[in-house]
Amino acid sequence: MHTRLDPNQSPDSVRSSESKTPAYHLELRRRSILRAAEGMRELAWWKVLRATEGMRELAWWKSMLADAVRPRIPVYPFVPERRSRPARVVPVVSAWAGIESILGDIMKRFGIGREKCLEFGVERGYSTAAFSCFFDSVSGVDTFQGDKHAWLGRDFYAETAANLASYPNIRLFKCDYRDWIAQDQGSYDLIHVDIIHTYADTFACGLWSARHASCVLFHDTVSFPTVKRAVLDVARLSGKRFYNFQESNGLGILV
Ligand SMILES: C[S@@+](CC[C@H](N)C(=O)[O-])C[C@H]1O[C@@H](n2cnc3c(N)ncnc32)[C@H](O)[C@@H]1O
Repeated sequence: MHTRLDPNQSPDSVRSSESKTPAYHLELRRRSILRAAEGMRELAWWKVLRATEGMRELAWWKSMLADAVRPRIPVYPFVPERRSRPARVVPVVSAWAGIESILGDIMKRFGIGREKCLEFGVERGYSTAAFSCFFDSVSGVDTFQGDKHAWLGRDFYAETAANLASYPNIRLFKCDYRDWIAQDQGSYDLIHVDIIHTYADTFACGLWSARHASCVLFHDTVSFPTVKRAVLDVARLSGKRFYNFQESNGLGILV
């Protein structure tokens, strides 16, 4: 008689004699097809959410309508001349992975100073660690609570602080970007904006950053149309040039 798996039973718990039956293999195949279908459904839903993010924001609609009468902002492709992995990276999963290999090229190409870097959106510290290889000091600002696009659903400050404990030139600040920009009068060589990916937040944080740094980087210009639109509007108001790197979900470079 063929063994049927209980839907809640793990295939590993089946005795080896039972694992030879066709029913067992059929069940394994059925489960992997279901898992793949569920993954594809989630991916499709996530893509729809990202593509329609701006439609839920009044400020995004205003920006779209204004484009009908104002001159277009050119977007220059950023094509790296060389790539090299920095000496240290934090072993955590991040949508930012890959960008660390072009930071040296960006720094050289645009003649960016090496002293002070500020980052809005640290999460588990992947990008922060990469920046720390190029600057004397890096300040990382994050609520460490996550947001609707970076679902972590808990306070992860302690985890990030532990990930970055061996980087002496990084300081972390548990702070909302809005509170930070209300009190900081400083200027930086480079600011990285990678917070919640709404148009309004990226625009507000980005415009302040463009006024306090010679170079501003924005992550997710390809995966989030809202971020790209915000960068276009910051470029328009700040007079900076907009270069766009297409890989690793997109990196907007304003210089
Ligand atoms: C996409 S993640 C940053 C990813 C990170 N740069 C990396 O390399 O993996 C976005 C982060 O922005 C933070 N964030 C969202 N809204 C914020 C706000 N209003 N102020 C400060 N941080 C915020 C979230 O807590 C989250 O950690």
